[in-house]
Amino acid sequence: MKLLGLPLVPVAAVVFCILLRSALTVPENPPVQTGRTIEAHLIIPADVHRILRRSCYDCHSYQTRWPWYTRVPGLSQALYGDVKRAREHLNLSDWSAKVAEGQEEAQASLNGICEELRTDSMPIRHYRWLHRDAKLSPYEVERVCRWTATAKQR
Ligand code: HEC
Repeated sequence: MKLLGLPLVPVAAVVFCILLRSALTVPENPPVQTGRTIEAHLIIPADVHRILRRSCYDCHSYQTRWPWYTRVPGLSQALYGDVKRAREHLNLSDWSAKVAEGQEEAQASLNGICEELRTDSMPIRHYRWLHRDAKLSPYEVERVCRWTATAKQR
């Protein structure tokens, strides 16, 4: 049997191997270096921490809980791309990198968190479809914003 002039069985075998490989590989998180995290630099009240962990850490940290559909070929690349971009913009597991850019940069980043929440831009929409509890209530937004405005160094 032929498919587009190619023998079907070898082609099917190669496609199967590619799909299998994709199904078996889930992205690995880089190790968290405790001394570099935002927790190591700033005092974060427990309720604010809970909100951030629930709604932001899957993309903006090295503590991503990769869902089962990360194994679906095609989806994995899309998800990984989101997380990679998210970590480039804001990585709560590497706050030291932000601090190294200067205290002003670090504060601007905190202000950015509040702004994204007030404009209802984060977490990004498709994440909210799949994680119904990720959206922040208006009260939670204000709670996080109060913290970003007054966050104290450890
Ligand atoms: C599903 C992944 C995902 C989740 C969850 C998520 N973000 Fe993001 N975030 C992104 C991506 C991707 C970007 C990069 C900009 C873009 O593509 O929109 C980003 C960018 C940002 C930025 C930088 C914006 C800029 O213009 O520089 C901030 C601040 C931010 N997110 C805050 C948050 C906060 C706070 C939460 C939790 C309430 C959160 N994000 C949850 C994916 C996510």
